[in-house]
Amino acid sequence: MNFTSQIDKWYSKNKRDLPWRKNKDPYSVWLSEIILQQTQIQQGLPYYIKFMQKYPDVFLLATANEQEILKLWQGLGYYSRARNLHKTAKIIVSNYNGVFPKTYLQLLKLPGIGKYTASAISSICYEEKQAVLDGNVFRLLSRYFGMDIPINSSQGIKAFEKLSHDLLPKINIGDYNQALMDFGSTVCKPKMAKCEICVLQDGCNAHVNKTTNLLPVKIKKHKVLIKHFNFIIFIDPYNNTQIEQRNDKGIWQKLYQFPLIITDKELNVNELINQLEISTPLSNSKYEVELINAKPEIHNLTHRKLFIKYWKIQIDHLSTNITPIKNLVNYPFPIVLSRFIKSYF
Ligand code: ADE
Repeated sequence: MNFTSQIDKWYSKNKRDLPWRKNKDPYSVWLSEIILQQTQIQQGLPYYIKFMQKYPDVFLLATANEQEILKLWQGLGYYSRARNLHKTAKIIVSNYNGVFPKTYLQLLKLPGIGKYTASAISSICYEEKQAVLDGNVFRLLSRYFGMDIPINSSQGIKAFEKLSHDLLPKINIGDYNQALMDFGSTVCKPKMAKCEICVLQDGCNAHVNKTTNLLPVKIKKHKVLIKHFNFIIFIDPYNNTQIEQRNDKGIWQKLYQFPLIITDKELNVNELINQLEISTPLSNSKYEVELINAKPEIHNLTHRKLFIKYWKIQIDHLSTNITPIKNLVNYPFPIVLSRFIKSYF
């Protein structure tokens, strides 16, 4: 028996008795799927029951007061889910006469409904051939098929989308999708997978290779900080400029640079001058400021995204770190700056 038939067979015996499975009403399926995003069934179920009691249909939800909805949502977290729930209910009532759209693509347009939820609703309620891919499914497929491509990389997502689509049965798509979710959350669990009772054990690549606890693979994504780098290109009447050596421990350690002002926000000319006055008082000099590149140059580092601007300041007098422009080629600069020097001077 292949993977899909084994999953279907397992579900026919082990299906969880959940209230939104009693009929295929899109309102209750939608509500349950939104509540269960980032929430376990055990924790989400009481909320589903409370919502169905207070708002048994989309009309009642649409006309509810937002504060009341948020109050009922209290404790579930990610409150944008509740606000989107309300927005979507209003759209369904005003644009669709209270009848849920039936296709994956139409569902995808509604607030709070992404690929996963659109697949779940369209397959469970309307048998559309859409595979669901949530954390449970990624885990189960990565283990059974021994897929060690990161599930949060774009290549990985594509590979899993193709695989999960290819595995869909010809009929009962909605049940099969829910079977995968149940199997993933009750047997092929993140930690302490119940391999000893697993009906897929013999064909499971991870079980055979003892890699169950290593799968799925995720790449660690760093939070990328945005920084605005403003390099000041002073030029005096004798074609001198000013440079300095970096003495921090970063990737540009010991290299040279033009005076630099780093900010979290983009600066305009006046803000730049104000900042500059703090480090290099200009008030006794005559100067003119000109932005060289209106469109910042973007430089991506592992943890940072730099927006680089070069400001030319024509000044009558320089007092420190005076360097003839023609000598700049003799100094080591970070690659972004040596490119700038080559193209600008
Ligand atoms: N988790 C989210 N949606 C689910 C569903 N329909 N069945 C089981 N687990 C789920």
